[in-house]
Amino acid sequence: MKSLSENCKSLSGKKPIIIAIDGPAASGKSTTARLLAKRLGYLYLDTGAMYRALTWKVLKEGVDMRDKKSLAKLAKEIKIRLQSNDEMGSRVFLNGEEITFSIRSPQVNKYVSLVSMVKEVREEMVRRQREMGRKGGIVAEGRDIGTVVFPKALVKIFLTCSLEERVRRRWKEARERNSFLTKKEIKEELSRRDKLDREREFSPLRKAKDAIVLDNTFLSINETTERVLKIVKNSLQSINL
Ligand code: CDP
Ligand code: CDP
Repeated sequence: MKSLSENCKSLSGKKPIIIAIDGPAASGKSTTARLLAKRLGYLYLDTGAMYRALTWKVLKEGVDMRDKKSLAKLAKEIKIRLQSNDEMGSRVFLNGEEITFSIRSPQVNKYVSLVSMVKEVREEMVRRQREMGRKGGIVAEGRDIGTVVFPKALVKIFLTCSLEERVRRRWKEARERNSFLTKKEIKEELSRRDKLDREREFSPLRKAKDAIVLDNTFLSINETTERVLKIVKNSLQSINL
């Protein structure tokens, strides 16, 4: 098998494309997308961070989660800036204030799927995401990237991973942050959020018809990235880019 750097070398100089990565929580989307973007010199777009940033603001302002009008208004008003960072994924700023760590809080985890259910909220976020991908050269990850945001993306990956392994990964992360969440609590939180994301009316989490499923339950981060790079390379070759 070719190494990651060999694969990357053969991709440089090609026309910049859009790579869409979707999947359930903790399936490895951010890690894979960030590494891929770094290797290709592409922009990394963490769309989940945008919905999380809005949710953080909604909680801070004490807006009623059922008040769709106010949620949509806030979505339009706030300024979100994502700044790629090797160690932390994306640094996130809302109206100039850094909220990188606050958006990963249990409170935001609890409410983000409710905020992201609202049609007008999604329309605003999708508009901003498309603007960022206008010139191509982007690896975007989320829930609706291949189905709604960039339906014409040349490469679409749907990452899957067993619930047990996803829980183990998030539990390990929590311990590194000195959080005392149990595996049972993490499992409940992930399952609840996945269910809400899968069953919502607008842009539910689902595989695009033309997406390639990649189960990374037994793959390391590097192996997952290698596989995706191979898929990217094959797609480029197939259309002679
Ligand atoms: O990192 P994790 O997979 O836990 O979540 P995330 O990617 O940060 O996304 C947080 C939440 O934002 C998801 O559970 C969805 O409710 C919402 N989201 C969405 O609706 N559409 C996207 N494109 C990305 C995230
Ligand atoms: O973005 P998403 O919620 O889908 O997942 P992530 O934040 O990229 O990954 C969740 C955790 O799993 C991180 O701590 C990754 O380092 C880890 N991971 C892993 O151990 N093996 C993989 N193949 C992919 C991710």
